[in-house]
Amino acid sequence: MTKPKSAPEPWRIKMVEPIRTITREARERLLYEAAYNLFQIPAKDVFIDLLTDSGTSAMSDHQWAGLLQGDESYAGGRNWFFFEKTVQDIFGFPMVIPTHQGRVAENLLFSTVVKPGQIIPSNSHFDTTRANIEAQGGIAVDLVIAEAKDPENLHPFKGNVDLAKLEELCSREGAARIPLGMITITNNSGGGQPVSLENIRAVSEILRRHGIPLIIDACRFAENAYFIQQREPGQRGRPIREIVREVFAAADGCTMSAKKDGLANIGGFLALRHQEWVARLKNQLILIEGFPTYGGLAGRDLEAVARGLEEVLDEDYLASRIGQVARFGESLRRAGVPVVRPIGGHAVYIDAGRLLGHIPAERFPGQSLVVELYREGGIRGVEIGSVMFGGGQSNGETAHPPNLELVRLAVPRRVYTDAHLDFVVENAARVADRRTTLSGYRIVFEPPHLRHFTARFEPSPAGGTPSLLPGALAERTESDVDDQ
Ligand code: F0G
Repeated sequence: MTKPKSAPEPWRIKMVEPIRTITREARERLLYEAAYNLFQIPAKDVFIDLLTDSGTSAMSDHQWAGLLQGDESYAGGRNWFFFEKTVQDIFGFPMVIPTHQGRVAENLLFSTVVKPGQIIPSNSHFDTTRANIEAQGGIAVDLVIAEAKDPENLHPFKGNVDLAKLEELCSREGAARIPLGMITITNNSGGGQPVSLENIRAVSEILRRHGIPLIIDACRFAENAYFIQQREPGQRGRPIREIVREVFAAADGCTMSAKKDGLANIGGFLALRHQEWVARLKNQLILIEGFPTYGGLAGRDLEAVARGLEEVLDEDYLASRIGQVARFGESLRRAGVPVVRPIGGHAVYIDAGRLLGHIPAERFPGQSLVVELYREGGIRGVEIGSVMFGGGQSNGETAHPPNLELVRLAVPRRVYTDAHLDFVVENAARVADRRTTLSGYRIVFEPPHLRHFTARFEPSPAGGTPSLLPGALAERTESDVDDQ
């Protein structure tokens, strides 16, 4: 089943949503008003929005048709049974707990299972996963292989877990201290890189030997399965569905945000192989989300997710999806923009630290680049570097300084054409050409948690006022900043 070189989308466009560009002056003003935080810019003023691939997919006509067949009964609605059966069939877990998005599945799991001081290893925890573990007093440990830290290293599975480190941790701490282990597929915080089936099985074997369950963060499970099919010895030509079943056969459960590979705008679930935690989880679910046959979702949304989970397994879809992201990344690279390689599944990660080598981490090169991409072409990406991961000191948490200063350009599923992405490449190339004119930023306000969403910045040219210490920042309020 060799794929043709070009992998055209196995769909055509039936409905369109207008987008528009605004003037550079208008963008300039909006940046100033948003205190240079792209999360604060209204989406209508963004031309190409690559902030996230989460909840931004275009649904198919089949999914939209499913919305009209929503059964909004409080208990035991028709769509729930279809949703439950679809998840059981694809992932092979008998217990299914619906949630309105991924982080609730995480919250339910960790609030039920994790005690203060306990350790949860993973390849790399996503930020909400880490935050939910830390909210229970747990310790989130990243054990991704060393190759992942080198943006030029072409290892085909840079999301893999370092098995020696996992073995060492399990032997040292044991099941009493490690209530579960995780693997994120694909590894979002580590460049959207895949994890091999071999590595998943090996992690499972190590954890099982120590009596520790494995829970997979399954957000981009189909994209990961496609990489396994394409890159792993012995997996070529195997049906995606079969690979998916094997991946999850190695695990005891999964958390899922259906906003990614569910091809839906909202939804998620927690699925488990064993009964053990289920009664407690369902009690907690009723407390924070809803009855166990809808879990914070409308019946119609359950239907859209179930249909999306089936559609995402289509190999032609995956070939066009992964192919589009790969072409986008390679075009950026050819245009002189350094990117993490191999190109990930759902996003291209620009190495802003390298592109803007003259801006030190404490003046946030990634932030400088996201601001400039918006200024240049109305393009929105997200900083994944010292802004996102460097905070926390102000409320006594430990900072997790990143290895790399990245900017993620996430590609929504079935939304943009190659011409849109070519436009992004042209604009990024212009920014790269004038990179020496870019300066850094400093934070003038930050909240105690997840600071990237609401932090306020101001330009900080080289030799200008040094960054304030985060401890001092926490005492400042938004109105202080507004008064300046
Ligand atoms: N796990 C991973 C690997 C994720 O990428 C996300 C969300 C979540 C869990 C949480 O899911 O948003 O449905 O609550 N990632 C989005 C992103 C927000 O932009 O990467 P959620």
